[in-house]
Amino acid sequence: MNARPLRNLDLETAYLEAEQGYVRATPESRRRNEENGRVMPGGNTRTVLHFQPYPATVVKGEGCYVWDADGRKYIDFVCEYTAGLYGHSNPLIQDAVREALASGIVLGAPNRYEGQLAAALTQRFPSIELIRFCNSGTEANLFAILAARAATGRPAIMVFDHGYHGGCFYYAHGSQLNAPFETVIANYNDVEGTRRVIAENAGWIASITVEPMQGGGGCVPADQAFLEMLRAEATRHGIVLIFDEVMTSRLSSGGLQKVTGVIPDMTTLGKYLGGGLTFGAFGGTRRIMGRFDPRSENSFGHAGTFNNNVLTMAAGATGITKVYTAEAATALNQRGDALRDRLNAIASKRSVPVQFTGRGSMMNLHVNVAPIRTPADVERDNKRAMDLIHLDLLARGLYTARRGFIVLSLPMGDREFDALATAIDEVLSDRAAVLADAG
Ligand SMILES: Cc1ncc(COP(=O)(O)O)c(C=O)c1O
Repeated sequence: MNARPLRNLDLETAYLEAEQGYVRATPESRRRNEENGRVMPGGNTRTVLHFQPYPATVVKGEGCYVWDADGRKYIDFVCEYTAGLYGHSNPLIQDAVREALASGIVLGAPNRYEGQLAAALTQRFPSIELIRFCNSGTEANLFAILAARAATGRPAIMVFDHGYHGGCFYYAHGSQLNAPFETVIANYNDVEGTRRVIAENAGWIASITVEPMQGGGGCVPADQAFLEMLRAEATRHGIVLIFDEVMTSRLSSGGLQKVTGVIPDMTTLGKYLGGGLTFGAFGGTRRIMGRFDPRSENSFGHAGTFNNNVLTMAAGATGITKVYTAEAATALNQRGDALRDRLNAIASKRSVPVQFTGRGSMMNLHVNVAPIRTPADVERDNKRAMDLIHLDLLARGLYTARRGFIVLSLPMGDREFDALATAIDEVLSDRAAVLADAG
């Protein structure tokens, strides 16, 4: 796409030129976006997938590659925002889905797969004694919060600035469609400030929901001391501590709770744990989750036509028991840590204000010279420069998320990691002039 010499006059000109190159290379995606725009607002049904001038339509995936409607091939580092851990064509998962499909898909009864998946997840995640399934991470967080409110008899919830717990639980950029709970928002990784906010609101807070690493917020890991403080204060005040591990569950064989040793009362899950199909789950202590037992008096109701849909249950059970074993989780995340170190070394060699934060198989590129520990630090990212790098990576056949999110999948080998490292090196070198002052 970058056949013309780069002029790099300034950041804005460089961006506009890159955008023109993208438009020239993707006429069919553009046509489809315009056509879809007649029946969907902005041609879109999932906000995160939109970027300017329009996203490429993806028509096929295989292994860790995707192809767009204009026939261009990319390495898939979007990885369905972490749900694509298994890649597009894992044979064991495909067999599990085919087998389930052949035996009827809307059985309207407990099926043979859900217990297998529940057993595997309760074994893997230290906080989960009992678990229930639903259809998305958003729904998992909704039910975890509702259960905490019902169990404690308190109305309010606590979350953190820039936390993302689903389409209606988004605490950044003035989201206008959040679920209308009375909500206390504290600053992520601020130990003393958060302790104070908890003490001031303890009487009416039912739950504290936290991502042990903010994913949508830019791959900002929680400090160990911050998580330990949350655990201690939740216990002291009888608040239900909920770890949203919808994304971070992939970061070890038992999520970040296993790595940090901080064990919440409840955990929410989603993404790849459905084997790549629609999935959500919430689980936790017997004391809280036992309330969902329909045989008990005053039990909590939790309905959902597709809570145990056979395709997801079958794919999820096979994925976690046969593919993303504890050993596979350790290996992928070690490779991810090494790759992130390598990319950071490239950025410092090129003397540009670019850095990669994250853990294991999830990382985020930032154009930002200062160390990143809090959402306020992320806010200082130069978004225009990140837009430019995004288009430059697309032009080189690397599909990453516009916000700089880069996710790894199991089918990726050294070839794909090398391709990412080479592309980052080239982009940072080609754009050194406009990036120099961008951080
Ligand atoms: C931390 C976190 N929680 C919850 C969700 C919502 O999950 P879903 O998109 O399945 O509703 C997401 C989705 O990206 C997430 O990253």
